[in-house]
Amino acid sequence: MGIFITIEGVEGSGKTTLAGMLRGYFVEDGREVVGVREPGGTELGERVRSILLSHTGRIDPWAELLLYEACRAQVVEEVIRPSLERGMVVICDRFTDSTLAYQGYGRGLDLEAVESINRWVSKGIMPDITFLLDCPPEVGLERALGRINSTAGPREDRFEREDMDFHRRVREGYLKIARMEPERVRIIDATGDVESIYRKVRDVLQRYLRT
Ligand code: TYD
Repeated sequence: MGIFITIEGVEGSGKTTLAGMLRGYFVEDGREVVGVREPGGTELGERVRSILLSHTGRIDPWAELLLYEACRAQVVEEVIRPSLERGMVVICDRFTDSTLAYQGYGRGLDLEAVESINRWVSKGIMPDITFLLDCPPEVGLERALGRINSTAGPREDRFEREDMDFHRRVREGYLKIARMEPERVRIIDATGDVESIYRKVRDVLQRYLRT
């Protein structure tokens, strides 16, 4: 089996930069790496992603949950499971913890129901390591909106329009998940400089690879 690594955090917490660091680390180590993002990562998932992020009307929270889970079911079977079976390192930008943090803690859906659907859909595939990039939502959103306002940046999405309380609940939700599973979920201070983030990530990986 390969190694399954997920990256989590609020908007603008630097997940893309971390994904690049992780890829570099493993490629240098001679491993084959595949990167995916959620929602997305498959043709079906990318189509559902555009509904999820650009739909301007209200989406019922359960409908939202099931759309994210539909993307996940597909990417698990099409990409994640086969790549792990071939011994590759899979780096996934968001996974089941996003659903628990956003739809569970953020939207207020029943946590046990969300966890249960997460388990069904991921079919026993659990991240070996999860990096949680933690920062106050104000900081992350400012970065994300900075990207949007620059001419090359993507457009604001449904989540970036949510109020600050929503984003605070998401952050707190993530921290609760990390407290419940400290072995798997490693908290990284996303307000730190890139060098200190890289050092911490490298330490975690070195320790994991030695065990
Ligand atoms: P994306 O543009 O990838 O945002 P980011 O750059 O912050 O990762 O959009 C993904 C959005 O979907 C993000 O706001 C978090 C949200 N999301 C959920 O609400 N539940 C989920 O299960 C997943 C995977 C993502």
